[in-house]
Amino acid sequence: MLPEFYQFHHPTKVIYGEGLVNDFAHEVEELGVKKYFIVSDQVIHSLGFIQPIKKGLEEANFVITGEFYDVPQDASVEAVERISRHAGDSGAEGLIAIGGGSVIDATKAANFVFSEGGDLIEDYSGAATLTRPLKPFIVIPTTAGTGSESTLVAVIYDVANKTKLAFSDKFLLPDLAVLDPLMTQSLPPGLTASTGMDALTHAVESYVGVDSSPHSEALAVEAIKHIFKYLVRATDKGDDLEARGGMLIAANMAGSSFSHSMVGCVHSMAHAVGGLTRVPHGVANAILLPYGMEYNFEVSKEKFAKLAPVMGVDVTGMSIDEAAREAIAAVRNLGRQLNALDAIPVRLRDAGVPEESLPTIAEAATEDGTIVYNPRDVVAEEILIHLKNAY
Ligand SMILES: [Fe+2]
Repeated sequence: MLPEFYQFHHPTKVIYGEGLVNDFAHEVEELGVKKYFIVSDQVIHSLGFIQPIKKGLEEANFVITGEFYDVPQDASVEAVERISRHAGDSGAEGLIAIGGGSVIDATKAANFVFSEGGDLIEDYSGAATLTRPLKPFIVIPTTAGTGSESTLVAVIYDVANKTKLAFSDKFLLPDLAVLDPLMTQSLPPGLTASTGMDALTHAVESYVGVDSSPHSEALAVEAIKHIFKYLVRATDKGDDLEARGGMLIAANMAGSSFSHSMVGCVHSMAHAVGGLTRVPHGVANAILLPYGMEYNFEVSKEKFAKLAPVMGVDVTGMSIDEAAREAIAAVRNLGRQLNALDAIPVRLRDAGVPEESLPTIAEAATEDGTIVYNPRDVVAEEILIHLKNAY
């Protein structure tokens, strides 16, 4: 059945290629400004990734007005405020984020205040607070997971209140996303696996979500196909550039998909787990995805059944129920394969989540902004059963 109405709006230009980060200045020309401020983190900086990118841009007569390398593991309100202040003081006209989800989201959120002034939380919390485009924003992802280079969402950690704040606006979408497999080549197995499972969660939740559309579903399906083909390979052999490229493309497609259809109860639970216990987002999603699928089983089984062959299951002769269960089994099996490579845990207890925190997590999950997009009502007592199963 087709949706009564939907829209698909994807203004981010995506370019893909090996070695592209050293030679993309002509793409930047199109954005019309010359002075850029670079944001990254200490790890990416220490790996020597920034210098060649900077050199390539400077040789093409762009000016790097300043750099900021102090984005913490979870993009914090404080980091966002510092980026917008430093970028503004430096005289920059645009922003370049080089990093994983935290760097991208911190820079994305900083663009509110950098471009328009005001206060991040007071003026821009929630959705659609902007009336015009922000300053040019370029993203070079160094993980294949969040797909944040192609989403209209930024998630920022509020340290004081131990919660994650979500900002969404179509004007937050980056202008240019540069996907280069050389940038993810040195990502260790743990981060490769957990960020890849985050991308899988985006794709699966977007596919079954209440706002899914033919456009978002097509991107989700293709992302899932790539993840099942490439994630174990990329985790096992980091220098497999085809696998790295496949995962970057998959994460980007999943990002574009969920930027339109959002995510559901797995993210509700993962945000609650991350807010309370600081388990990394991708690890929480990796553990919880099969359990969230089980939570949604009755309402989403027809769609899960369609995903089974995409995940490599031969569904010949199977009923819808059987094929749907096989899809969940395939996700669980992928987690186990990554676990066998010592890359991710498959149980909440092994991720350091205290058992006594499960009821609080279940409650917090029901207050997460993602619940409205889940195909089934998110009820604390029911969620708690699945959290206990995941424990
Ligand atoms: Fe996510």
